[in-house]
Amino acid sequence: MKCSTLFYAAAAVLAGSAAAVNTTSGEPVYTGSKSFPTSLFPSMYYMPKKMEQEPRPVVTRETGGQFPDLLNNPYHLPTSPPANEVLMPSPTEQCEDLDQVIHEVWELFGQLFRKDKASDAPLCNICRTALHSLQRIARADPDLVPDLMSSICESLNIFGALGWKQECKRTLAKNVYGGSITQVLSYANFTGDAPDAQTICAQIPKLNICDFPTETLSDSFLNDWFRGQRHPPQHVVDHWKQLRERAYGEGYDASKKLRISHITDLHLDGRYFVGGESECSWGATVQCCRINSYNSSVYHGQFVHGQLQPDQIAAPANYWGASRCDTPWSLLANSMEALRAVGGDNGYDMTIFTGDLVAHDDLYRYSRDFVKYSEQSIYDMIKSYLKNTPFVPTLGNHDTNPENVMAPAAPLPDGTSYKWDWDLDYVSTLWKNREWIDQENVNDIHKHHGAFSVKPLKNLRVISLNTDFWYCVNMYNYIHSSNPDNSGMLRFLTDELIEAEKNHERVWIIGHVLSGWDGKEALDRPSNLFYQIVSRFAPHTLAAVFFGHTHEDQFEVFYFNDNGESKSTSQLTEHAVSVAYVAPSITPYTNLNPEFRVYHVHPETYEIMEFDQYYTPIPEFEALVKENKNHGPVWRKLYTARELYGDFHASVKSHTYRAGVALNNNRWPKNAPLNGTFWAALTDEMEQRPELVKTFSEVQTGNNPMASTCTSKACVVNNICYMRAGSASLGHKCSDSYSTMGRG
Ligand SMILES: *[C@@H]1O[C@H](CO)[C@@H](O)[C@H](O)[C@H]1NC(C)=O
Ligand SMILES: *[C@@H]1O[C@H](CO)[C@@H](O)[C@H](O)[C@H]1NC(C)=O
Ligand SMILES: *[C@@H]1O[C@H](CO)[C@@H](O)[C@H](O)[C@H]1NC(C)=O
Ligand SMILES: *[C@@H]1O[C@H](CO)[C@@H](O)[C@H](O)[C@H]1NC(C)=O
Repeated sequence: MKCSTLFYAAAAVLAGSAAAVNTTSGEPVYTGSKSFPTSLFPSMYYMPKKMEQEPRPVVTRETGGQFPDLLNNPYHLPTSPPANEVLMPSPTEQCEDLDQVIHEVWELFGQLFRKDKASDAPLCNICRTALHSLQRIARADPDLVPDLMSSICESLNIFGALGWKQECKRTLAKNVYGGSITQVLSYANFTGDAPDAQTICAQIPKLNICDFPTETLSDSFLNDWFRGQRHPPQHVVDHWKQLRERAYGEGYDASKKLRISHITDLHLDGRYFVGGESECSWGATVQCCRINSYNSSVYHGQFVHGQLQPDQIAAPANYWGASRCDTPWSLLANSMEALRAVGGDNGYDMTIFTGDLVAHDDLYRYSRDFVKYSEQSIYDMIKSYLKNTPFVPTLGNHDTNPENVMAPAAPLPDGTSYKWDWDLDYVSTLWKNREWIDQENVNDIHKHHGAFSVKPLKNLRVISLNTDFWYCVNMYNYIHSSNPDNSGMLRFLTDELIEAEKNHERVWIIGHVLSGWDGKEALDRPSNLFYQIVSRFAPHTLAAVFFGHTHEDQFEVFYFNDNGESKSTSQLTEHAVSVAYVAPSITPYTNLNPEFRVYHVHPETYEIMEFDQYYTPIPEFEALVKENKNHGPVWRKLYTARELYGDFHASVKSHTYRAGVALNNNRWPKNAPLNGTFWAALTDEMEQRPELVKTFSEVQTGNNPMASTCTSKACVVNNICYMRAGSASLGHKCSDSYSTMGRG
């Protein structure tokens, strides 16, 4: 036996004595009803007799009237986006030699992507020149750009293995992304040392053509940003010390806790086709569980339309949901029932939702009405099930159209910012009518395109961000990209925190796209500024951060950093200041079991003392239908945080325990919160017990057997690296090959 094998074997024995995930099932907490809650709707467009198709409820618009059946009907998929929802810039400049410039663009992209005729110039420069040439075309004759980009994409096979050539035209069409991309090309600053071109070229996936522009913020920037107060004033530090002593001292009473639920990434799929292919390859659609999904190893031929025969399908989509598909109506209703049931008679003290309502689909099948339908139906469901529970929502990157895209509130050079009123008006009215926010919040949402702040509980301020403004896929972030806060959202956040600090309030931040992890989601500059803000206000004022987006169960530790450069931060546990809880999704997409979470929260510090993770195992769905069981999906407890992670014996034994908290039999004491220090210490423990990362990877997907687990040394090392990365640039220090277990 080799030394290292011996080490792993010994570690496994030690792990066996600690609580492990029950991979068979876990304790059942709720057995769902088989029937669909039709009484919540004025009527049904369609109601299945058995479980042969999904129910299709009639959904009433906030503004009156009803969404048409054809908008979300599995038998009728839209074939193109509405013609009147196009975003395009106006021409602003002449270009005498347009043909020549177009020719140049072809040449340059050829050098970039084919790399055969590569000149001696560094690729980064070629990329910047190509953007500059595209800009000239966009400013002279914008309508040319989407077609030009589609043709280049097709001819150079840019989407390559990712998909089919048809995706080039579909994605880059004027009424899909082509229009927004042309706007950005037209408005961005590609001259001199302006960083927009470099930022774009750095972000192009897989190429890494340019270095990321520096994230570093100067001292004078930070002084101004924090209004001259770079560290918490003494009265704030003293107050926090007293509060902690009172909360966790002698008289600590674990029974005094708030219960706060966290749901995220619902992705309601009204187009889910029961009996369709749930394990599909890309073809007539990129989405599985559609009427036109197929698996090319089972169905040969060119699929046109109609329905496949059962023997042409590898894995038929189950009525209750499937591992590679979004949430059908049946599962959405079942999850809401489970959420309410777990809340018990007293319900929750609050529920937070970290965004994403709309189903994944082919980009050209989206429309504004499709987004509004998802907003309306999901928020109606939430209100029906949670009644008067305080509820704080967030906008996700899917809750707009085209998805992932939103410009800041400040008008673009041709005044096009009003283009998002259709969404912000609709959703903020909807929230206000449900009494989740007030008129002042509605005004803030318009002013900051999504950010607002509420006080749902005594002395707690919850600040909700629209993280589209740091999401790297949102192309509008590449205009004025040297500004780490082009949208003004982080200014708003900081002013709210300063106000809260003055009043000795506690703060939670909720958002959708996480700030760090593998560094592939947020842009470096805004996420670095966010890191500085967290470090400035935690733990004295900021109690915790909450994200969604990845659909998987993860967390990010923030460490103290005040030099304006998150990537230089010391990632030692004694320097931990906060944590972001990244909660797993309701949607099973991809290879996940549906989940929600309930935190036990201290009623004065608003720190998390414990949480329970609930899930329903998709593999059980087959029997529900096949054996015609008289109930719906069963929800179970997957784990509780302290049981799974509260044991630090290995780091104690190896003298690497450095949290400074006196343990109780090697376990985290009951009166200590699961704060940044706890999660940082857990990463140290994981270094000593790699099998704990395997457990982490199992619960990361809610134990779905189709997902992968983390066992290789490289996977363990890099997952620990992600957990310690609260900013994009810290995430870039890790290899990005192990950051998802569902898709990986
Ligand atoms: C897992 O849970 C099931 C059902 O609750 C139970 O029967 C089984 O004994 C448990 N297994 C372990 C290893 O705890
Ligand atoms: C573009 O960036 C350059 C270099 O940073 C700057 O001098 C110029 O003023 C910018 N142009 C606009 C329109 O902002
Ligand atoms: C297609 O079906 C085969 C056979 O069931 C399966 O092994 C494969 O994973 C499926 N393909 C996809 C993309 O899911
Ligand atoms: C976390 O809680 C422990 C125990 O109360 C405390 O010692 C530590 O300083 C806290 N860490 C942070 C970042 O608040």
